[in-house]
Amino acid sequence: TLIVDAKGSVRKIPDTFFGAFFEEINHAGAGGLWAELVRNRGFEAGGPNVPSNIFPWSIIGDDSTILVSTDRTSCFERNKVALRMNILCNESNPCPAGGVGISNPGFWGMNIEKGQKYKVVFYVKARGRLDLDVSFVGSVSGAKLASQNFRAPGQNISMWTRMETILEANDTNRNASLQITTSNRGVVWLDQVSAMPLDTFKGHGYRKDLFQMVADLKPNFFRFPGGCYVEGNYLRNAFRWKDTVGPWEERPGHFNDVWNYWTDDGFGFFEGLQFAEDVGALPTWVFNNGLSLNDEVNTSAIAPFIQEALDGIEFARGSPKSQWGSLRASMGHPEPFDLRIVAIGNEECGMPKYQANYLKFHAAIKQAYPDIQIITNCDGSKKPLDHPADLYDFHIYTNATDMFSKSTKFDDAPRSGPKAFVSEYAVWKDDAGNGTLLAAVAEAAFLIGLERNSDVVHMVSYAPLFVNTNDRKWTPDAIVFDSHQHYGTPSYWVQHLFTTSSGATLLNTTLQTSTDSLVASAIEYTNPKDKKNYLRIKVVNFGSDQQNLRFSISGLTSNVQQSGAAKTVLTGPNVKEENSFSEPNKIAPQHSSLEDASGDMNVVLAPYSVTSFDLLK
Ligand code: AHR
Repeated sequence: TLIVDAKGSVRKIPDTFFGAFFEEINHAGAGGLWAELVRNRGFEAGGPNVPSNIFPWSIIGDDSTILVSTDRTSCFERNKVALRMNILCNESNPCPAGGVGISNPGFWGMNIEKGQKYKVVFYVKARGRLDLDVSFVGSVSGAKLASQNFRAPGQNISMWTRMETILEANDTNRNASLQITTSNRGVVWLDQVSAMPLDTFKGHGYRKDLFQMVADLKPNFFRFPGGCYVEGNYLRNAFRWKDTVGPWEERPGHFNDVWNYWTDDGFGFFEGLQFAEDVGALPTWVFNNGLSLNDEVNTSAIAPFIQEALDGIEFARGSPKSQWGSLRASMGHPEPFDLRIVAIGNEECGMPKYQANYLKFHAAIKQAYPDIQIITNCDGSKKPLDHPADLYDFHIYTNATDMFSKSTKFDDAPRSGPKAFVSEYAVWKDDAGNGTLLAAVAEAAFLIGLERNSDVVHMVSYAPLFVNTNDRKWTPDAIVFDSHQHYGTPSYWVQHLFTTSSGATLLNTTLQTSTDSLVASAIEYTNPKDKKNYLRIKVVNFGSDQQNLRFSISGLTSNVQQSGAAKTVLTGPNVKEENSFSEPNKIAPQHSSLEDASGDMNVVLAPYSVTSFDLLK
């Protein structure tokens, strides 16, 4: 029997309870949420040195017709590398049909769709007459999906010149490339080549389908941009916010040395703040605190990093007249972003310099911004912390049985002092594969435990959020995608069952059962659609047997139910079942109405299942 007291509130669950954590891992942003189609758009992937790494650009033509190199002649101060094409063909040495030049496949193929429009921008300089074709080219026939010719009237273009056009695709190809070609002898320099779909969420640059997947989780906070990505393997490769703001052309980009790929930083600090606002979440900024995975700045030399963090807060929420707030305003957001929560680094608590540096960051931020909540990454779940913090970060990646048992993890955590931010949790390795039912069911039990302990646990998010299947650096993940399609893993769908938890009322429940495979909770929440109050009972069955349970609910307005009652079940025939592009909803919530719901009812719980019951309060 599950006894539910629908009258007595245990507490209000914090409004911030359920959120999302975004890290630039698995091409979550570059080649994912950020809709930019060109990869390595500034030819900077080798860093500031030349010759630079122009991967994944390839050369169209051979050594007798074109010589491609990089030099440092760009007009952009922070990213000096430019591409130089020396076109050798002429009448006696004719270019191949279609010309010579360069081609960019984007992130494992560009998704070009018939009727869609794309804004193409590039910067160019030329010795000799400029006559360039800029085209999207399909992968199968090599047919042009859209093309535009750029011709200059004079002989040379000696100053860097911005070119821009809108290309409209005449056909669909999921694996297209962008080609820039010419048949004219001479030298052409190119830099900062971009191709953006016009159809992004609010024109803010996010792929619409991936935006919607996150929005559907109704996250109340958005932790970003990492994860270890914030730290870097080495500080020289860490995420430093100042290099990721301002006009996209001027951003240097950086090598994500933890997850081993170059990012052009299109989805930078501003875009993270903007995304949080667009998705209706509080931005939760994790900044680099002078520590990477392999090097650390001495406390005596930490001041510039502290100033960088303070400047970042000013960028996010300072007046548009302030130094950094004015940069934000110039980027189109004069109103401050609602930045109230920041994390001093990620997972460095054990490092020698963490605590001493932390104290300096903490003091400086609290002095300048007393209302900002600060997150330490030292674990306060076992004993009280020895340093001041508003929240402590807690990460857990484990097997399914252990995750299930962790539903009681916070039962004994200190009740006073900093609150817990479970910012990364997931079942991984054998039990999880690339996202199994088994993992999801165990995680649901863990989440129920967090909900029950929401006096201490104030924020929770799954990790990682995204994976591009062409570059899995970490598995499993919540949302899986490639250039044009996506699906949610079972763990993603479990999160859907908790979207109503933030700000809801936790109710008292008592589970009387001889099996240890069940975990349950009950909340009261208001459905924004019909504005009615509902009771949501969630029960996890982490066992291979079906279970019969009696609900004994006191305090329902009407004990005879109820047209609005419904049941949602997440289960499947096999615990190792996963979703895929071909079967995206194999393991997804199944909704049905509950005809015979009442305050005294019997329910059946499928083996390895998560079931939520919604009854009108
Ligand atoms: O979520 C993947 C990684 O796991 C994060 O970068 C890091 O914080 C944790 O170790």
